[in-house]
Amino acid sequence: MPSNEEEMVVTPWTVSGKIDYSRLIEEFGTQPLTDDILKRIEKHAGQLHLQLRRGLFFSHRDLDWILDLYEADRRFVLYTGRGPSGPVHIGHLVPWIFTKHLQDIFGSKLYFQMTDDEKFLIHPEFNLETPTRFAYDNALDVIAAGFDPAKTKIIMDVESAGTLYKIAVKIAKRITFSTVKASFGFTDSSNIGIIFFPAIQAVPCFLETELTGENVPCLIPAAIDQDPYWRVARDVAPKLGYFKPAQIHCKFLPGLGKGGKMSASLPETCIFTTDTPEDAEKKIKNAFTGGKPTVEEQRRLGADPTICPIYYYEYYLFEEDDKKLKETFDKCKSGCLLCGEHKAKLAEKVQRFLKDHQKKREKAKNVLDEFLYKSN
Ligand code: TYM
Repeated sequence: MPSNEEEMVVTPWTVSGKIDYSRLIEEFGTQPLTDDILKRIEKHAGQLHLQLRRGLFFSHRDLDWILDLYEADRRFVLYTGRGPSGPVHIGHLVPWIFTKHLQDIFGSKLYFQMTDDEKFLIHPEFNLETPTRFAYDNALDVIAAGFDPAKTKIIMDVESAGTLYKIAVKIAKRITFSTVKASFGFTDSSNIGIIFFPAIQAVPCFLETELTGENVPCLIPAAIDQDPYWRVARDVAPKLGYFKPAQIHCKFLPGLGKGGKMSASLPETCIFTTDTPEDAEKKIKNAFTGGKPTVEEQRRLGADPTICPIYYYEYYLFEEDDKKLKETFDKCKSGCLLCGEHKAKLAEKVQRFLKDHQKKREKAKNVLDEFLYKSN
């Protein structure tokens, strides 16, 4: 169980300790999302998406430049992805829900990368078939998120190696071992597949440019853990005549335990999109909260929603209405709302969401092939 006292670590493969997002902006050299940028997005969207309004997306690189181009009638592509090492949880859905929103506003084409190769290389126990199987399964969650079939291509890395490799070698030739060592913490005992892999994750940033011959900018929505990949990709881009990929970064949806992001390595603190209603309810019932040990104390002293995953799930995903959210916050603080009641309310919303998502996942099986990127 990651504890809040541990030193903060944020890499594509490990997130632990208490996350200080302002420090990450400084250390990773990104920019905070300013009111000015939010206003510009609001102008295009009509209203600000919940994930922007509530600060879930908090940082960016070159988003202002992407907006400049868009406002000058230039198109850009979106790019996001998934490392298919197991079932998808609701934390993974956060950037996908937002990416769909961006696709709706800007009408952009989306490349969605499934890195079955990355997961094979990182997990010693995996044979190659395991992450590929998860990739096809997880693609159903991607489709269920509602992307436009006419504008979305899911790239299965191993299957699409022909297309990816031709671009990856050009990228890899311009990245030194010392750069990836510094960015990803590789050591002499890292396998050479994973040392090469950052070139593969960089490819979709430039795929539209390579396929069309027109230099097309790219915007990547993802949680901040993926940032080392983009630092390397941005370094290389000008050397190959591409635009540097832009990013918009989100925070991590917490798990149901005390502290730490939602992570499949702690399945009991994770709500998977394939969980049954009973599983989800049970996990929520057992969750950590910001409550007091006894009902009497809670009534008297109130709870602390600022450390409570139950409150955070409403805040980030399940309560659209700002007024209702504020009421819940106040009721938690004042001791009017007990944790058991709040958990039951959230469980109902999560169950409704899962039922709907699972129906869409089933339907997605009929259209999966349409979404797959086919190598020439
Ligand atoms: P993966 O599978 O670890 O994560 C998929 C996406 O989910 C984000 N994420 C989270 N967001 C909010 N709360 C959480 N608790 C949480 N956990 C994970 C990740 O940042 C990611 O956006 N190497 C990548 C696959 C990939 C990719 C990409 C991701 C390939 N190309 C382009 C983003 C953009 C991976 O293993 O993601």
